[in-house]
Amino acid sequence: MRTVIVAALMLALCAGCSARRGEPVSEPLKIDNAKLARGERGFMAHCNKCHPGGEKGLAFALNNKPLPGFMIKAQVRAGAGAMPAFSRELITGEELDEMLEYVTLLRSSPPPPGENR
Ligand code: HEC
Repeated sequence: MRTVIVAALMLALCAGCSARRGEPVSEPLKIDNAKLARGERGFMAHCNKCHPGGEKGLAFALNNKPLPGFMIKAQVRAGAGAMPAFSRELITGEELDEMLEYVTLLRSSPPPPGENR
């Protein structure tokens, strides 16, 4: 039930989001501190196979919507549909925070030239 509520909230928040599917990110990400570097490693290890580079892969894109951090965390802890839940044994709170920073960075990277947001 909680998952359903979270999913509904996310859909509501995303109304009007611009879709950025499959386009390459135009500029290299600035991974300029250790926390982000760990976040990137965690993302690659746990999330990238379904959310490649934050783009739409097997799952929804993560880089095109202003989902607040606590909702992303809720999604990761609870899972939803085809997305597995990740327990604290798998991803610690600290690791999840680092991964969120990385996801936020993915989101802030500018779209390719010529693309309207
Ligand atoms: C096995 C594939 C898989 C993996 C691994 C995975 N996800 Fe997902 N993810 C999904 C699917 C499928 C959905 C859509 C679920 C639904 O609502 O039905 C989703 C949805 C999401 C959403 C909600 C997006 C939206 O638009 O509502 C977030 C946030 C998210 N995933 C983050 C993550 C993070 C962070 C990780 C790594 C810890 C991760 N996912 C790992 C498959 C995956």
